[in-house]
Amino acid sequence: MSITVEGLEHVYLPGTPLEKKALHDVNLEIPTGSFCAIVGPTGSGKSTLVQHLNGLLRPSSGHIYLDGVDITARGIDLRRVRQRVGLVFQFPEQQLFEETVWDDIAFGPRNLGLPAEEIAQRVAMAMALVGLDQGLASRSPFGLSGGEMRRVALAGVLAMSPEVLVLDEPAAGLDPRGRDEIIARVATWHRELGITVVVVSHTLEDVAPFATQVVLVAQGTVHYTGPVRKLLANGELMRQWGLDVPPLVELMESLRARGLPVRPAVLDVQETVTEILRAIGGGPS
Ligand SMILES: Nc1ncnc2c1ncn2[C@@H]1O[C@H](COP(=O)(O)OP(=O)(O)O)[C@@H](O)[C@H]1O
Ligand SMILES: [Mg+2]
Repeated sequence: MSITVEGLEHVYLPGTPLEKKALHDVNLEIPTGSFCAIVGPTGSGKSTLVQHLNGLLRPSSGHIYLDGVDITARGIDLRRVRQRVGLVFQFPEQQLFEETVWDDIAFGPRNLGLPAEEIAQRVAMAMALVGLDQGLASRSPFGLSGGEMRRVALAGVLAMSPEVLVLDEPAAGLDPRGRDEIIARVATWHRELGITVVVVSHTLEDVAPFATQVVLVAQGTVHYTGPVRKLLANGELMRQWGLDVPPLVELMESLRARGLPVRPAVLDVQETVTEILRAIGGGPS
């Protein structure tokens, strides 16, 4: 499913002393099948933006189109929209509430009024997708580890079979291993289920290897949309808008400043090594 954001503005608490314009002039095109990474510093408006993608927030002005249909229009079935565009909040484990893992994951499909057999199938499928042992189904979600609880919350959204999966900082608060694992899983769902993915992250390096499109949000609006490598090659733009430059890119920049002709737009350690060896060996550029 393609998503188009047009002239989006969002003002919190309008007309009060606490009025805050969180987004302005946001224009964005997320093509079907993409893995779109939304990056930017804290407080820039990323969470506000993604809550518009499934109609959870209403724009102060502007429009959101899903496959060309304006979901800000009157008479739109927002329940259906939220089923097609699954939104996973930051720290989603805080919203678990059922007595068992199974019931928590089954909550959405049950609300859709699906037959019992299909609900059971969807719960089993979702647990497998997030890597939860089926033996945990009868346990209380509150007795699980933080990482497991997050997977239960993710499974609840996957059980709705969304066409678009929107994840707000899915790796926040996890240790480095948990972080890599969750992002790798999301990349697998994108690749194997053909699901359109939108991931919010304040660290570009976590999502860079998987992103087909990067959107840089800062101070309430979009400052870059395009390929990840083009952004990585533009350290000045990242710094200008307060986005942390990935450490490997900084390394390459500093080697370059010392006269080694490396290209700084690297995605991972392997690419970094290859690029340094190429520059030292004077191989083809
Ligand atoms: N519910 C709210 N009420 C008032 N202001 C808010 C609310 N949520 C976010 N904001 C403000 O809007 C701005 C953007 O916030 P947010 O979208 O959460 O940014 P990010 O996700 O990039 O950290 C911030 O200045 C934040 O303080
Ligand atoms: Mg946020």
